[in-house]
Amino acid sequence: MYTTINQAYEYIYAKYNKPIDIAIILGSGLGPLADEIENPIIIDYKDIPGFPISTIPGHEGKLYIGKVSGKTVCAMKGRFHYYEGHDMDVVTLPIRVFAKLGIKYLFVTNACGGIREDLNPGQITLISDHIGLFAPSPLRGPNLDEFGPRFKDMSEVYSKELRNIAYHAAKKVDVDLKEGVYCFFKGPMFETPAEIRAFRALGADMCGMSTVPEAIVARHSGMTTLGISLVTNKAAGLSTNQLDHKEVMAAADKAEIDLVKLVKEIIKEM
Ligand code: HPA
Repeated sequence: MYTTINQAYEYIYAKYNKPIDIAIILGSGLGPLADEIENPIIIDYKDIPGFPISTIPGHEGKLYIGKVSGKTVCAMKGRFHYYEGHDMDVVTLPIRVFAKLGIKYLFVTNACGGIREDLNPGQITLISDHIGLFAPSPLRGPNLDEFGPRFKDMSEVYSKELRNIAYHAAKKVDVDLKEGVYCFFKGPMFETPAEIRAFRALGADMCGMSTVPEAIVARHSGMTTLGISLVTNKAAGLSTNQLDHKEVMAAADKAEIDLVKLVKEIIKEM
């Protein structure tokens, strides 16, 4: 694992060796945020040792490094999902590489299904906490002591301080912001209505197929994380529509202007 991390780290560091403030993972349809990066250095995943190539529409597979709102960011346009068949080591490899690059902050974004009644398509929602019981732990196996301890506290995976900054920023740019508990599902199929009812009872407000492994690894490495979900549909059984990837992408496209505005303002206020 250390060898893979080091090889990817060295490749990226050879392309860009100045400090980077924030790593950003751009979820389904949220890629346009990368277009806001000034004069980016663009690195193709296929050139980074150990990085797989994304196979899903809306996930491009490029790393963008450059300035946003006066800070240096490194944005992943395209992430690796468990449902694609990758091991959790691969899903979370970029996070460990970011930690090794000395990046202190992680913004992780995703498209999700809304479970709580007030979470409708288009709603931008901060992640306050997660339920990841059904995600295999990305920390399983020998502990990577260089990054963090064996038994890491997970009581604040998503930074309270960054959430407060996000609320302040949202007010300033007039974006409606809510927060909720994100529940990880393995995918790639959408959930069944019974699964959604079960997890609603357990305290889940949103559901999705990403984010939790990355956020756990970021926490293990001592990074400070902000999680932002975009609700693209009502979760299974909560509307009469059948769930469909095209619907997810269309909702993401619509909310993207607000999301870009919000993220830029958050970065400015950090
Ligand atoms: N379930 C899981 N993942 C998702 C959903 C959903 O309803 N919408 C967008 N990503």
